[in-house]
Amino acid sequence: MATTAFFIKPETSPERRALYERLDEKSTAPLWEVLAKLVPPEPRTSCVPTLWRYDEIRPLLMEAGRLMTAKEAERRVLVLENPGLRGGSQITQSLYAGVQLVLPGEIAPSHRHVASALRFIIEGEGAYTAVDGERTTMRPGDFILTPSWTFHDHGNPSDRPAIWLDGLDVPIVNLFDTSFADHHPKETQPVTRPEGDATARYGSNLLPVDYTPRSLSAPVFSYPYARSREALERLHRNGPVHPRHGIKLQYVNPATGGYPMPTIAAFLQLLPASFRGKPYRSTDATVYCVAEGRGRSRVGDSTLMWGPHDVFVAPSWKSVWHEAQDEAVLFSFSDRAAQKALGLWREEDL
Ligand SMILES: [Fe+2]
Repeated sequence: MATTAFFIKPETSPERRALYERLDEKSTAPLWEVLAKLVPPEPRTSCVPTLWRYDEIRPLLMEAGRLMTAKEAERRVLVLENPGLRGGSQITQSLYAGVQLVLPGEIAPSHRHVASALRFIIEGEGAYTAVDGERTTMRPGDFILTPSWTFHDHGNPSDRPAIWLDGLDVPIVNLFDTSFADHHPKETQPVTRPEGDATARYGSNLLPVDYTPRSLSAPVFSYPYARSREALERLHRNGPVHPRHGIKLQYVNPATGGYPMPTIAAFLQLLPASFRGKPYRSTDATVYCVAEGRGRSRVGDSTLMWGPHDVFVAPSWKSVWHEAQDEAVLFSFSDRAAQKALGLWREEDL
């Protein structure tokens, strides 16, 4: 479809309006009245560029921790709602994001759902997420999966609060009306494999000799920050630095080289100190969480100043360029996996 061609709404007349009223009575409607809105020549989203400052969100989350137990809440999460999409628990048109707190000694009970989830750890050492009978310790910067329909619970045996960013494809699952969810019979699922088993089995540049995929998601569920950060550091030393993305890597399913989950793509990028990125845009609205450093991003007409642990969102097809003050590391996720699988994704260097 040509981007210059717009669908023009025809003039109305008393006779036409009378017809539209009769159509309405029969649950029908004239396409020509809505075509321009229905099929825009380029993405026209209600999602707006927004930043959530961690130093403003954290006290509210801790206050929620005083008033509400993790068990009572099922998950004690502050949903990050895009101001252009209020009321739908959406940070973008297709994604949900929230900031979750598990206090020392608490357990978030075991459940599963069709929606796929990721965690990006912000604070705490020693809390765990259990997936498929294996617990993994969560440290700041770790990227953790709880794929579709896998039982997962969180616990915090440490003496400090554990806080992380949750990202889920709930709006996609609900678009298709395909949501199912249930509880594990036990509050905490039994541990059937020692920590590190999945990484040894599937995440060491090796796979079991008789490996067959059990799902569309990665068979590993923990991507430790120490390893990812070391890769970024080494590639920064080796160069080159991409003029738009700095040093940007994507998280992969080690068995396929594809995205870690069928709907969600995730990335980690290093922006060197004083980096001044050129503008870029793509159709996947993207949620960023600052792992390290300070800087600012121009997103469409907005300038978002960010520091450690802040979360911000870049809507579909808005120009984005990043500038780092000191060396910075940005985690990000989007629905690029789903868009590519459906043949919808586009990008453009501006
Ligand atoms: Fe969950």
